[in-house]
Amino acid sequence: MKLENYIRDVEDFPKKGILYKDITPLLKSHEASSMALDLFIEKLKNQKIDKVVGIESRGFMFGILLAQKLNAGFVPIRKPGKLPAETLQSTYDLEYGKDTIEIHKDAIQPGEKILLHDDVLATGGTAAAACKLIEELDGEIIQINFLLEIASLNGAKKIDKYPKVSLLNY
Ligand code: PRP
Ligand code: MG
Repeated sequence: MKLENYIRDVEDFPKKGILYKDITPLLKSHEASSMALDLFIEKLKNQKIDKVVGIESRGFMFGILLAQKLNAGFVPIRKPGKLPAETLQSTYDLEYGKDTIEIHKDAIQPGEKILLHDDVLATGGTAAAACKLIEELDGEIIQINFLLEIASLNGAKKIDKYPKVSLLNY
């Protein structure tokens, strides 16, 4: 079985000219999603993780599964205005405009070992902003993992301080 067979290309979504990588076929298959989960665990090489941080919304899917497998807690990074308690915010540039993400201030204790997860690494803006939030809370980023990376967008450059795993490269 090949994981890439479970990623569907959708042309012109969400707007014209964009080729969207759809992970729902992978999620729909028990075989493919458990293979992806096993690969993520294998690539961590038994490193101890205290918290898995997942980025809303597609980073929540494997984020929770990873946390369970690793006997770790799960921490959501969310889009603005969704987290109820005190938050830290990070704003980053998009192709046109800006975006913000948030984390609860009490989500991570200083020195905790963090696995950051998201489904896709594209320009890297989201992942870099998430790293900033984790480090402001003094978490130690052990690894960042993605289901897939769109290498031509050079997102890896923005997070090259950290060990990174992408199961698929495009
Ligand atoms: C997508 C994807 C990553 C991010 C990657 O999320 O799930 O989180 O973009 O892009 P970047 O590397 O250029 O920052 P999106 O904002 O589409 O939202 P979703 O996860 O809620 O679908
Ligand atoms: Mg996302």
